Amino acid sequence: MLMPHLDQAKKRTKNEVLVRNFEMDDKFKKIGVGKTYYVKTYGCQMNVHDSENIKAILEEMGFKENDDMEKSDLILLNTCAIRENAHNKVFGMIGRLKHLKEDRPDIITGVCGCMAQEEVVVDEILNKFKFLDFVFGTHNIDELPNILYEAMHKNKTFIDVKSIEGDIVEDIPVKRDSKYKAWVNIMYGCDKFCTYCIVPYTRGKQRSRRLKDIINEVKSLKDKGYKEVTLLGQNVNAYGKDLNADYDMSDLLEEVAKTNIERVRFVTSHPWDFTDKMIEIIGKYPNIMPYIHLPLQSGSDRILKLMGRRYTKESYLKLFDKIKKIVPNASITTDIIVGFPGETLEDFKETLDVVNKCMYDSAFTFIFSPREGTPAAKMKDDTPLSVKEERLHELNELVNKYALEANQKYLNKIVPVLLEEESDKKGKLAGYTDTMKLVNVKAPKEMLGKIVDVKITDVKTWSMDGEIV
Ligand code: 5AD
Ligand code: SF4
Repeated sequence: MLMPHLDQAKKRTKNEVLVRNFEMDDKFKKIGVGKTYYVKTYGCQMNVHDSENIKAILEEMGFKENDDMEKSDLILLNTCAIRENAHNKVFGMIGRLKHLKEDRPDIITGVCGCMAQEEVVVDEILNKFKFLDFVFGTHNIDELPNILYEAMHKNKTFIDVKSIEGDIVEDIPVKRDSKYKAWVNIMYGCDKFCTYCIVPYTRGKQRSRRLKDIINEVKSLKDKGYKEVTLLGQNVNAYGKDLNADYDMSDLLEEVAKTNIERVRFVTSHPWDFTDKMIEIIGKYPNIMPYIHLPLQSGSDRILKLMGRRYTKESYLKLFDKIKKIVPNASITTDIIVGFPGETLEDFKETLDVVNKCMYDSAFTFIFSPREGTPAAKMKDDTPLSVKEERLHELNELVNKYALEANQKYLNKIVPVLLEEESDKKGKLAGYTDTMKLVNVKAPKEMLGKIVDVKITDVKTWSMDGEIV
């Protein structure tokens, strides 16, 4: 039994990170034969991709995927800890699993992901949800075969959560959700410690993958017919800083672009590490998508300082303008938190001012949610929730106005769209432009996986309609 420890998770060691290959003992390969699994994923793309690994590992153990949770033999929740509502959703689902387990005591149930890294969550599971068979964290996904084996041979919850970062494990099997677009991890963890954020505790120290391993993965995806890769990390611009290497994010981007895969994008950036060289590379290679997610969080220098963001409103706007100058067609999106402890009306107006200046293509907006163990959770916060909700509403109205305006610029234009799935609308396929605009296109199913020129015929706030030209 290995329990999570918040104090340990806060620490950053100088220990070298070990890189090794995934291995699975033969004794685990038949455990799942004749059984089905269901993995429910919460949260960000990192979790989505982790679930792709988890599914493939389970299939190597003989399990088969089942879309119906209620009928599956193994149910695993891959959780997110970023805000309180993510927590609540997971605990609601654990409640449902309890009933299922009462009806079908033979099923195996488990929890993994970011919530599993939290001491408070695992304590609650041990106190209130003893029926769960196993819990593991974000650092030992590759140990899933052994964890399941232990869980199936014990009659109490098997907990295996590491609070110091794990090794970098290459070649973990992967069952990708899409045949055309792939997630590629370039780094794990985050060392920025923004004061509101739980990620540096749940995902640990920043660890970059070696450039050659990333390039090999992209090349093999291209050979398999993938059209688009998204380079994934909590803070991708800091890629390579932890390696004793002579390359950084701009070099990586350039090397990935040179594989000639049709589309490359990356999430998420931190304005602090966004270099001029990176902007130049994005402008230089046509296959690097002109799409940048650039989290603002707040437009107030006072709040940015309290958040530990290491930039000012002025330096953010300067960076924004530089990107727009060198990559004029770039669509830029952002994340904004309202109601950070002590945020005044003046502070909030500074945020609105940045939104008015940047006129974002779209934005994810959140009310501050205190996360246990983070510095911001201890800060005095006397703004009533109703005021925070009003601010969120006002912000969303503004964001939506600019999102629609940004889309209106596409009307009657011809743009490339990667058709990736059947649309909810009959007879149409859904896809994205290289600027990450969702387009519903009248097209036959045979066109799936193709990048086609589409004339935009109608625009709304969140999507567009178009016809193949
Ligand atoms: N409260 C509200 N929003 C948060 N985010 C991260 N932590 C919190 C929190 N404690 C938001 C940030 C981040 C996005 C992924 O989630 O805006 O960029
Ligand atoms: Fe969290 Fe992103 Fe800040 Fe890292 S850079 S602490 S993941 S908000």
